[in-house]
Amino acid sequence: MTKDLNNTFTFLNGRVVNSVGYGAMRLTGQPRNFGPYADWQGGIALLRRARDLGITHIDTARAYGPHDNEKLIADALLNEDGTYGEMFIASKGGIEKDAKSISRDTTPATMKRHVEESLANLRADRVDLYYVHSPDGTTPIADSIAALEEMRQVGKIDMIGLSNVSQKQVEEALEVAPIAAVQNRYSPADVRDGALEDMIDWLDLRGIAFVPHGPLGANPMKQGAAVDPAGALRTLLARSPNILVIPGTTKIAHLEANASALGV
Ligand SMILES: NC(=O)c1ccc[n+]([C@@H]2O[C@H](COP(=O)([O-])OP(=O)(O)OC[C@H]3O[C@@H](n4cnc5c(N)ncnc54)[C@H](OP(=O)(O)O)[C@@H]3O)[C@@H](O)[C@H]2O)c1
Repeated sequence: MTKDLNNTFTFLNGRVVNSVGYGAMRLTGQPRNFGPYADWQGGIALLRRARDLGITHIDTARAYGPHDNEKLIADALLNEDGTYGEMFIASKGGIEKDAKSISRDTTPATMKRHVEESLANLRADRVDLYYVHSPDGTTPIADSIAALEEMRQVGKIDMIGLSNVSQKQVEEALEVAPIAAVQNRYSPADVRDGALEDMIDWLDLRGIAFVPHGPLGANPMKQGAAVDPAGALRTLLARSPNILVIPGTTKIAHLEANASALGV
C-alpha cells in the first residue's frame, strides 16, 4: 500500500505498478464504445506510445467492443514471448453488450466464462487484475467473487477487483477472497460524495487500490474532459497514496500531455 516519490503503488501481493495508467475504453467503435476501433493501427500506436512513456497500467474490459478492445491491446502490447512483460493489464467481466442493448450478469457461470473469453481476446494464460464490472443486483457479491477466486486459484487471474460498488459490498467480497482494487467513478468534476470519500480512506488502510473511472469527469458515452486534465490528475494522485489514475484519450498528444503533467 505504498506510493513512493516515483509514483508507484505496491499491491498487497508485492506487484508494483505506476500510479499513472491509461484507460483504453475509448479505443472502440463509437457511439456506445461498441465494435472495433475505427483507426486500429492508430490505437496500436497510441498503446505503444503509452508503454514507451512508462505507463504500465492499462485498463480494459470484455464489454468494450465487446471483445475488440482486449484484442487491440493484444495486437499492440503482447510480446513475442507471449507475455505482457512489465505491462499490467486489468480487465473486467459481468456485462453483456450487443448492437442494441447492454445488461449486467455477474452470476458465477458468466463470470468464469467472461474470464476465459478475456484471456482468449488478450491471447494470454493469465490476467493481472480482473474486476466484477458492475454487480447485477441479484447475484450475491460473494458468489461472483467465489467464481473469480476459483479462477485465481488455478492461476488465470492474479488479483481480483470490484467496480461500481459500495463499501458494504467490498466487505462482503473480502469474506470470500482478497480484493486488490476497487474502481468507482470519482473525479474533481463530480459532486462530492462523503461515503465514497470515506471508502477511499478505508481502502487505503487495507492496502487496496482505488482506481477512479472517468477521472476527468467525462461522460463515458460522450467526448470531452469536464475539467483541466493536468489539474484533475494531480489532485487525484495527491488525494491518497492508493489512487491509480487511468485517464482515457484517443490522442497521442493528450496522452503525452497527461503523462508529462505528472512527471512520467
Ligand atoms: N468501471 C467502469 O464502469 C468504467 C466506466 C467508465 C470508464 N471506465 C474506465 O475509465 C477510463 C477513463 O474514463 P473515460 O475515458 O470515460 O473518461 P475521462 O478519463 O474522464 O476523460 C476522457 C475524455 O477526456 C479527454 N481528454 C483526455 N486527456 C485530455 C487532454 N490532455 N486534453 C483534452 N482532453 C483530454 C478525452 O478526449 P480525447 O480522446 O480527445 O483526448 C476523452 O473524451 C476508461 O477508459 C475506462 O477504462 C470504467
